[in-house]
Parts: sequence; structure tokens; C-alpha cells
Amino acid sequence: MAKIRVLTVVGARPQFVKAAVVSRSMRGQSQMEELILHTGQHYDHDMSEVFFDELAIPHPAYNLGVGSGSHGAQTGAMLAKIEEVILAEKPDWVLIYGDTNSTLAAALAASKLHVPVAHVEAGLRSFNKRMPEEQNRIVADHLSSLLLTPTVAADKNLAREGIDEGKIRQVGDVMYDATLYAGQREQSGQSILEKLDLQADRYILSTIHRAENTDDPVRMEAVLAGLAEAAESHTVLLPLHPRTKKLISEDDRLGQFASKLKIVAPVGYFEMAALEAKAALIVTDSGGVQKEAYFHQKPCVTLRDETEWNELVDLGWNRVQPPTSRKAVAEAVSAALGTTGDTGAAPYGNGRAGQQIVETLTTFQP
Ligand code: UD1
Ligand code: UDP
Repeated sequence: MAKIRVLTVVGARPQFVKAAVVSRSMRGQSQMEELILHTGQHYDHDMSEVFFDELAIPHPAYNLGVGSGSHGAQTGAMLAKIEEVILAEKPDWVLIYGDTNSTLAAALAASKLHVPVAHVEAGLRSFNKRMPEEQNRIVADHLSSLLLTPTVAADKNLAREGIDEGKIRQVGDVMYDATLYAGQREQSGQSILEKLDLQADRYILSTIHRAENTDDPVRMEAVLAGLAEAAESHTVLLPLHPRTKKLISEDDRLGQFASKLKIVAPVGYFEMAALEAKAALIVTDSGGVQKEAYFHQKPCVTLRDETEWNELVDLGWNRVQPPTSRKAVAEAVSAALGTTGDTGAAPYGNGRAGQQIVETLTTFQP
């Protein structure tokens, strides 16, 4: 029997983490063949290669080297190049993840060539169409033949938009699988704390990179000033995304607040998991890090106007705080320190999302 050929398209940090889970499951299936295409959206060693190495993701068959650019230029360059690869490789499925420009480009390229698209992390909505991620995920979902959702809420969002129920499979969240996998290597935890001179439960871990914060000077200053205030009582560790690093390096005022924080380069996935597991609190605008806070049973402040992961707010683990002022950020941080949430729920599946995705890809008729 001919193998099922899957073209996995990734390009940005969170997609490497997610694709690693599914790729690991796919390698256990003799009837499947995976080809990985890296768009090159993220290209620094600590934003890309480190994840391929640590998570043993197979070397990409293609790296398009698209790199950074405006949304249109970046997405357009990917679209043209992904189309060529699909025409050459004739996959049975194009497998996409999340909501980045790489996701959008792959969904467009494949659907125009009538190659079925399977979307992992389908159905998330912030209901804020100004966000590039919201635009990308809405288009990707509507072009997909198979919508692999992480939560009940995601299924409801898709039903509300009239997407055929027959195309939707709730499989759980691959990021939960990834955290369980990292947990098997917990021994790396102490070394990163020692390396960074941190004491367990005495530091706040923060990541900031979303456009809605970095593109708005008022919000960016509020985030850094609020974190600087929090740094009076706790070490604030900020593994810094290159987008935010660039911004801080160009603005003395931001630099002054940043000097109160412990800023390091982005860390690898296992080090990040260990840092999350030992933090007193997590403060972020990342989608993935919000959930990882919960997986490690840590309180989280999300510095955004809304979240796609409302389960965590309902369970008491996450507080959404728009970073409108230093005071708003500092007060949210101080209110969240020492809190916990409901431990009885399991909103993100059973840790077998990767396997369920692979099983679905082998049986589903698009
Ligand atoms: C992208 C996603 C965002 C996701 C994030 C994960 C889109 C529209 N946004 O945002 O949803 O949360 O990835 O981290 O796809 N840069 C480097 N080196 C790199 C990568 C980026 O220096 O390896 C810098 C460049 O200055 C670049 C900027 O970061 O212009 C932004 O990169 P880009 O990939 O456009 O978007 P992200 O902010 O990373
Ligand atoms: N991450 C990491 N090192 C870092 C920051 C984040 O390994 O320095 C991981 C994090 O643990 C999570 C993923 O990157 O698995 C989230 O990616 P990111 O925050 O860039 O994107 P988002 O989830 O917001 O789209």
C-alpha cells in the first residue's frame, strides 16, 4: 500500500515545539511518511535550530529561508515557494500549526492546489481581528479539510462560524504532550537555575513579544515599567525575543526599565520548561507560555486585552491584564503572586494529542 505523505509546514518557535510531538508519533507509523518544510520565518539559532536539536525533529527537507519582513512580503514569499514544493512533492496532506504567517501561507498554497490541509490547534479565537494571529487562524480554519482542535471551546467557535462538524476532531493540546515529554527530563532543571543564579519560587518568569504590545509604545513602556516595579521584590527573568530586544536597544527609556530585569537570550525548550516549573509566577503575552504555566501549576498574568485560552481564566490560574499602565501591570503581578487555581479539571486532553492526530490523518477521508 502507498504511504500517506504528509508535508509539515513550520516556521516559528511555537510550531517547532508542537510539530515535534506529532512528528515523534508519526515516526512510529510505518504507513506514513513525513517531509518537513521550514519557511525560515524564525532563523536565529536560539529561535529555531535549538528546537530541532533538542526535540530531535527530523532535518527539514526544505528550508525556504524567507526570514523577516512585512506581513505581505513575508507571507507572499512563503506562498510562492511553498507552492513549488507542493507541486514537486504531491503530498496527501499539508499539516499546519497554530496561527503564524507560515500557517497562513501554507494553508493558502495547499488549498489553491486542492491538497487537503490539516490544522493543528484549530478553532482558537481571541475575537480581536486586529491581531495578525486571529486573521491567520480564521483563514487557515476555513481552508482546512481537517480541523484538529485542542478544547471544547475551540469546537464551539468553529460551529459558530458554520464549519462542518464532520471536519472537526477534538484531539487535545499537543503542548500538553510536549510538557509531559519535557517532564521526563526534569534533571536539567537545577542546572539552568544555577547557571542563572536563581532560587526556586523566588523569581518571576516573563516573556513578551506579541505585536499588540511591541508595536504600541505606551503598552511596551507599561510592561517594562510594571515588571521593573515587580523586580523590587522578586528577580524578574526575561528570556528576550529578538523583536523585543531590538525595540529595547533602540529606546533609552525602555532600556532604563529593562536594566532592572534579568534579561537573557531565548532559552531552549527544556530549559524553559524547567524555568516555568520553578517560577513563583509567570507573566507573558505568549499563547503557549500561558498554558505551560498551568501545566506546571503556576499562576500566570497574561498581558493582553484577551486570551484564546479562557479555560485558564475560569479555572483561576490565569488573569488577563491589558498593559495600559505601569500601575496596572504591577498591581496584577502583585495580586497574582502566591495564588493557585482549580486543580481538578483536564481541559487540554490526556497527553496523547500527538497520537490522536496521527491516527486521524491515517483514517480520515478528506
Ligand atoms: C511570530 C508570530 C507570532 C508568534 C511568534 C512566536 C506572525 C504574524 N507572528 O511573531 O504569532 O507568537 O512568532 O515567537 O507570524 N527576528 C529575529 N530573528 C528571528 C526571528 C525574528 O531577529 O529568528 C526579529 C526580526 O526583527 C523580525 C521580528 O523579530 O522582524 C519579528 O519576527 P516575525 O517572525 O515577523 O514575528 P514574531 O514577532 O516572531
Ligand atoms: N519558549 C522557549 N524559550 C524561550 C521562550 C519560549 O523554549 O525563551 C517556548 C515556550 O516554552 C513555548 C513556546 O516557546 O513552548 C512558545 O512560543 P512563543 O511564546 O514564541 O509563541 P506563542 O506561543 O506566543 O505563539
